[in-house]
Amino acid sequence: IKITKSKELEKAKKTEIQNLISEKKKEWVGKRIKVRGWVHRLRDQGAGLLFLILRDGTGYIQVVLAGKLAENYDALMIKTETTIKIYGKIAEDQRAPSGVELQADYFKIIGTSSGEYESIFNEKSNVDVMLDNKHLVLRGSRTSAILKMRSVATQSFREHYFHRGYFEVTPPTLVQTQVEGGSTLFKLDYYGEDAFLTQSSQLYLETVIPSLGNVFCIMPSYRAEKQKTRRHLSEFTHIEAECPFIKFEDLLNIIEDLVCDTIQRILDSPFFPTLMKELNPDLKVPKRPFKRLDYKDAIKFCNDHGIKKDDEGNTFEIGDDITEKPEREMTDMINEPILLIKFPAKMKAFYMSRCKDDSTLTESVDLLVPGVGEIVGGSMRIHDYKELQDAYSANDLDSTPYYWYTDQRKFGTSPHGGYGLGLDRFLQWILKVDHIRDVVLYPRMMGRCKP
Ligand code: 4AD
Repeated sequence: IKITKSKELEKAKKTEIQNLISEKKKEWVGKRIKVRGWVHRLRDQGAGLLFLILRDGTGYIQVVLAGKLAENYDALMIKTETTIKIYGKIAEDQRAPSGVELQADYFKIIGTSSGEYESIFNEKSNVDVMLDNKHLVLRGSRTSAILKMRSVATQSFREHYFHRGYFEVTPPTLVQTQVEGGSTLFKLDYYGEDAFLTQSSQLYLETVIPSLGNVFCIMPSYRAEKQKTRRHLSEFTHIEAECPFIKFEDLLNIIEDLVCDTIQRILDSPFFPTLMKELNPDLKVPKRPFKRLDYKDAIKFCNDHGIKKDDEGNTFEIGDDITEKPEREMTDMINEPILLIKFPAKMKAFYMSRCKDDSTLTESVDLLVPGVGEIVGGSMRIHDYKELQDAYSANDLDSTPYYWYTDQRKFGTSPHGGYGLGLDRFLQWILKVDHIRDVVLYPRMMGRCKP
């Protein structure tokens, strides 16, 4: 039996699924519509009854094909992930996930599917199988909800900055200077010259504050991390900002404001209730002010609470890096965002300015959050010409390629500071996702550069 598109039927209004399941869904009941999408789930009830969940990127709706429509040749061709155009009437049905159902009277297959989708991977597949098939995995409801929340969060960050009067710039990511130490640089051949993938856009942001004032960028940064942890990527999305004429205390308040205001904007998003339902519906704006903890007090906290430096059970000494595991143990024990401040100069990047009351320490800050650890790193910057020259020497850096950075201290210097927030780690925190790879479209990590 071949079902044909009947001319006698009421003309169908083309629409997206989100409209059919929105608050105004009652207005569609009884109307004839057409939708296009992919077959997300398929259930053959037998006896001429076929149930589909149709997905079009805007939402999901239950579709029922009954009688001849479920038994013709084309119906046999419907598999999961088949692309299909469906005509029919909207009916209320409390058993359907969205409370409405599309009762089809005609359909047309747009693109066939092999139907092997479910045999390639399932919930029990190992991580590499899932990552190799990320281009298909991302069609799942959880992964697509995460990617949509990533979009909502990125927009919320931008809105925060524009609302506070910042301008956005797009610095280059192919560079010839390092920012955060040579050990994590990706080196490449640039027309016969050495170049790197940038670790941070900070130095370029510093050059634009004299003409644009407060600035921010949302760009990829790269780190050749030689470790596999659940919060390290080789390519991550870096949200960085730089502000002229601020003091260290202002910087801490600016970071608090960024985090709290952006989370409020995310909570206010119309997409929040549906997308977060299975992720973290209880997300709240953290209370201000955030706890401030000096680095030296964090060392003491770890030693007092039995948090060990390493697997050998060593205790911490001043100057030790609090690495991922102990940092997370400490943050989870304190269980609220922590502004960890005033790290010793020896363990931090060359550009950080020193504390006025103790020149061995820097005006530096990491924001740590429960479940993830560090999500923001920032500092005040050395703004004195001579001091910067000394910092290059102390860090064995050839100042030649930094001439444009040094010039900022020659042509009207100013006290200034800024920070970088890892969007991926921020999402890991607010979406309660265990591993960073799961908040990224196509993660780049040690041992993985595909798809
Ligand atoms: O603390 P970091 O290294 O600071 C900087 O790069 C500064 N130059 C930023 C600035 O002041 N403009 O990195 C900042 C943040 C970290 O807190 C973390 O969230 C993220 O960038 N990050 C990474 N995220 C995922 N994978 C990695 N390998 C990351 N390295 C840093």
